[in-house]
Amino acid sequence: MPVVMPIFGTRPEAIKMAPIILALRDSAEFDCVVTVTGQHREMLDQVNELFGIVPDHDLNILQRGQSLSEIMTRTVDGLNKIFQNGKPDAVIVQGDTTTSTAAAIAAFYHDIPVIHAEAGLRSGNLFSPFPEEGNRKITSQIASLHLAPTNTSKENLLAEGISREDIVVTGNTVIDALLSTVGKEVPFSDPALEELVDSGRRVLLVTTHRRENQGNAMLSIGRALARIAEDEAELTIVLPAHKNPVVREALLPSIKDIANVIVTEPLAYGEFTRMLSLAHFVLTDSGGVQEEAPSLGKPVLVMRENTERPEAVSAGTVRLIGTAEDRIVREVQTLLRNRSVFDGMANAVNPYGDGRAAARTIAAIEALFGLGQRMDDFI
Ligand code: UD1
Ligand code: UDP
Repeated sequence: MPVVMPIFGTRPEAIKMAPIILALRDSAEFDCVVTVTGQHREMLDQVNELFGIVPDHDLNILQRGQSLSEIMTRTVDGLNKIFQNGKPDAVIVQGDTTTSTAAAIAAFYHDIPVIHAEAGLRSGNLFSPFPEEGNRKITSQIASLHLAPTNTSKENLLAEGISREDIVVTGNTVIDALLSTVGKEVPFSDPALEELVDSGRRVLLVTTHRRENQGNAMLSIGRALARIAEDEAELTIVLPAHKNPVVREALLPSIKDIANVIVTEPLAYGEFTRMLSLAHFVLTDSGGVQEEAPSLGKPVLVMRENTERPEAVSAGTVRLIGTAEDRIVREVQTLLRNRSVFDGMANAVNPYGDGRAAARTIAAIEALFGLGQRMDDFI
């Protein structure tokens, strides 16, 4: 039986890899051996626990304040040792983190085929998002099978010379993960959030962590949140803070001690998707949240200058607003005060998946090994 090794290290990879791992486990065709790098620790373990995934190998690479080079070298070195003791028949990497590219490189050096989930996203700017645009382009050069979430991502790969027969459009497994948790009414571990739900107040859900927003942009985001909270007494801002101390140090001083701002630890995925479905709208620089919120019909203001996820922008649900303080305040106020603008953005659209991305992924891997047929592409 071919051994397939999913390799991942951060929260969003864990969420998006979980449906694939669960489907691999159900398949009679493959032996699934799970390896985590531990690029994230608490935020990774939180997701694996929820989905009942116990890694077979854990490189445990996290260092507080880790550099990109440290993530790369510690991952390649750790995987090298694992592969020297026995090579899987293929590895699966997800997206554009440094874990995913390091794992692809380590596998490539051992002549192990690389399957790339969430392949073909492009912003068109090598330095934004940094380092993700570079990471995913590198992985595309050495992958054997490209699982593109949308037709746009497939076209990006074709434009870079990737062979048509090596690309399958699967949809994004984040939608599989979302559909498996949303609607379950998971209790909030933070009592302030249960009280908030009971109060019926309007909620603005905020997440931010991007490397290119750290520094002045994040200080500006913090100041904008403070102004919004103070001007809009009827609104509550919920901010599950990323574990990165650099993010917390920039953001939290401006918003601490404001009554209508609730800062929490990272929410377990089921709690986060419940909060997403309760929220009035969303302010974020996250990739995954940009994909999930449109499915739930939540307007999303994205604090970036560009995006590799243009589909929901075209559908009108996502608006790119950058990180300038005045612009953030203005855009939030428009959504609070202008009903027609809000309604225009509050359409439930599903450009990123139909909940069958993991099934298409398994079928594509079966076809790679000559064990079955691909499914029809996600349209
Ligand atoms: C990483 C990914 C980014 C992804 C993001 C998702 C890279 C270069 N970046 O960025 O693409 O969007 O994850 O959140 O791969 N930390 C903890 N515990 C945790 C997680 C993080 O303490 O569970 C702290 C550590 O001090 C760590 C720092 O956060 O050094 C930054 O983590 P890192 O993975 O390097 O970068 P992210 O910004 O999380
Ligand atoms: N998420 C979560 N708990 C939180 C915040 C986010 O489970 O407190 C989930 C969210 O639903 C999405 C993913 O984490 O699926 C996004 O992760 P992140 O923003 O860290 O990374 P990105 O998607 O930007 O790479």
